[in-house]
Amino acid sequence: MNTILVGAQWGDEGKGKIIDVLTEEADIVVRSQGGNNAGHTVEVGTEKFVLHLIPSGILRAGKKCVIANGVVIDPVALVTEIEGLEKRGIKLAGRLLISETAHLVLPYHRRIDEARELRKGRNKIGTTKRGIGPAYGDKAARTGLRLIDLVQPKTFSTKLKARIEENNAILESLGGEPLSFKEVEKTYLDAAKKLRPFITNTVVWLHAQLEKKKRILFEGAQGTFLDIDFGTYPFVTSSNTTAGGSCTGSGIPPHRMDRVVGVMKAYTTRVGEGPLPTENAEVSDMLHAMGREFGATTGRARRCGWFDAVATRYARMVNGIDELAITNLDGLDTLKQVQICVAYECRGKRLLFPPNDVEELLHCRPIYRKFAGWQKSTMDVRQFKKLPPNAQKYLKALAELTGAKLSIVSVGPQRAQTFDV
Ligand code: GDP
Ligand code: IMO
Ligand code: MG
Repeated sequence: MNTILVGAQWGDEGKGKIIDVLTEEADIVVRSQGGNNAGHTVEVGTEKFVLHLIPSGILRAGKKCVIANGVVIDPVALVTEIEGLEKRGIKLAGRLLISETAHLVLPYHRRIDEARELRKGRNKIGTTKRGIGPAYGDKAARTGLRLIDLVQPKTFSTKLKARIEENNAILESLGGEPLSFKEVEKTYLDAAKKLRPFITNTVVWLHAQLEKKKRILFEGAQGTFLDIDFGTYPFVTSSNTTAGGSCTGSGIPPHRMDRVVGVMKAYTTRVGEGPLPTENAEVSDMLHAMGREFGATTGRARRCGWFDAVATRYARMVNGIDELAITNLDGLDTLKQVQICVAYECRGKRLLFPPNDVEELLHCRPIYRKFAGWQKSTMDVRQFKKLPPNAQKYLKALAELTGAKLSIVSVGPQRAQTFDV
């Protein structure tokens, strides 16, 4: 069984936690897009891990993890992450494989990301400033450098020199600081030494594992509405965060995928700019007061709102979601009443799917269905039928309105606070 797991909303749905749970029944976990803009939280006992580039499966002894070709890698950030895990007793040797064709995030990508955001002013995207957009931009423009270049010092230095010259000119035109070739060269070649043992042809390796009937789990990063094609463009990230990205980002063909699991919160959150039709100050204030919904990568407060079934219905369609994992049900435990957006009202029309034009999306008003709250903690519940009846009704409505089978429920950040339905 090969499973693709995707975020069905705007990222931070709890993918890391669900991956950690599903890894028990997998042999290999693969990241196939995004970069260290991702922050996937896993809590095991008293320990909390936030993973950025390394698949969350690394926390389960014996499981193999792959950073595949579709990911953009900041080698310095990756070395920091590897060393951080090693210090905490996680063994990576022989368990982590990194694609030689993955593209590099270079310091000029980060500086350009920052400079462009600054110039956009009020129209900024609210990126994580990790250089993700410029790195994917270079990949598409065929001016990117890859890990395969990094492990050949002479080739790397020659290519890097030319790229720094061009990007320094761009940086100067944007009002950013130019970079020193020598400094970047040294930092990156040092990182290469640490990464070298992990770098390989992951496509060939993954196909050999398929021959051996190994079970692969694809760990999506970001979420459906941050997808470069299907998200709220231009307020998106620069990769395909939807199910198809798992194929192009790893070299595993579509017909080898067996199921798609969509992860969604029992409410909605978004970090960064862009439309969020069900955004609600009371829901935000309540969750923030509980110390919840602060970004795992940037620490920014996430914008929060009611569950948006118009969005998740679309996510089910473009990802082909078979099963749903609903997280953070416990976030709504104290409310007297909860609401689900079932349709949008937009310039006199009732819409069941989000419009593609963000300007139009900004004019959409959510049409809500109200549900009685359960006002009881769900955090210790481990069985669907032991949930308060109103919580059961709410979850059934989320699944029905999204159009997929409810499969997993999460009622707390811990591995054990999860049950199958
Ligand atoms: P990801 O990017 O999709 O992996 O999600 P993040 O880790 O960025 O954000 C999800 C947050 O919710 C993290 O702090 C998790 O520890 C937490 N979390 C996940 N599932 C649950 C849940 O069911 N209940 C609670 N209280 N927290 C959860
Ligand atoms: P995980 O995998 C939530 C958002 C940023 C910004 C937009 C573009 O943890 O769910 P980028 O730096 O990618 O160019 O930023 O995308 N964003 C995320 N939001 N979760 C993430 O990852 C995100 N990765 C990027 O906030 O709005
Ligand atoms: Mg996250």
